[in-house]
Parts: sequence; C-alpha cells; structure tokens
Amino acid sequence: MSGEKLRVVRLGHPALRRVAEPVPEEWFGTGRLANLARDLIYTMTEEEGVGLAAPQVAEPLRLFAYWVPGDDDSEVAPTILINPEVHPVGTELEDGWEGCLSIPGLRGLVPRHQCVKVTARAVDGSPISLTASNFHARVIQHEHDHLDGIVYLDRMTAMRSLAFEPEWERYVLSADAD
Ligand code: NI
Repeated sequence: MSGEKLRVVRLGHPALRRVAEPVPEEWFGTGRLANLARDLIYTMTEEEGVGLAAPQVAEPLRLFAYWVPGDDDSEVAPTILINPEVHPVGTELEDGWEGCLSIPGLRGLVPRHQCVKVTARAVDGSPISLTASNFHARVIQHEHDHLDGIVYLDRMTAMRSLAFEPEWERYVLSADAD
C-alpha cells in the first residue's frame, strides 16, 4: 500500500477539539477524496494504529479510516467511513482498553456500547450500512468521537486505569493473562 504519510497532530492541537464538517457531496468520486482516504489508511498503517480520523491529520472533515486485526472471521480490512452516523444497539456498555495516535504512549479503560449500527458513505459515494460489536464497535465509536472533537480521555469514568504502555503491558496485560 502506498501513499503519503500525513502528520498526526497530538492532544493540545485545536484540530482535535473542533466539530468536523461533513464531506461535501461534490467530493465523492473525486481524486481529492480518494487521495485523502488512501493517505489516512497509509498513515494509520505506518503508525501501527487501528484507526485514524481526518481531524487527527488536521483535516476538519467527517471521515475516518480503521481496521480490526484478527483471525479470518474477525478481521476487518482497512475501511473508510465518510459522514458516518453511529447508533447504539441496546444499552449495554462494556469497558475496554484504548489508546490513540494523538495521545501517544498511554492506555486507558473506556466504557463503550457493545454493539452499534452504522450508516456512512464510501469514497465513491455508495452507501455503507453495517452492524459492529465488541472491538469493532469500540474502534468505530472512538474514531467517530474524533469527528466531534472528543478524545477517549473524555469518555473515561475511571481515570485511575490510565497507564503508560510499557507499564500497561507489564502489569495489566500480564495480569489478564494469568
Ligand atoms: Ni484516537
């Protein structure tokens, strides 16, 4: 996969705190949108993230890239969702660990809806409709929040769980494995 590696802005940059604008109708099917989508996926992959929203590269537009690593059944290939609408299915919340390329080096426990329904557009303008659960749903909710100027720290209800990655791996992951 080729593309241009974009600069990911970090917490404190005002781009992360703005409500992004919908991608205009006339952009669908254009090279401009296709290039931005390609570069988001390329940058996400290079930075070893599972999601990257346009505001994280200081583009105030409502689109993001994500993928879900896993085995054949659970893996979701790199996907672009444009002007997404995310609706919770049920009321069940689940705690899970998150990190963010704009908040490097940290992990925290975040409650998210266990299942969401999503409608969005693809780069060519075609409609996308999907239901996601568990980690897939978590990634979508995290990225969708970026479009509204929200980061995962804002969603944390137990700030005590916040940890640096090496300590998280050493003390949390290893404890979970026991
Ligand atoms: Ni993030």
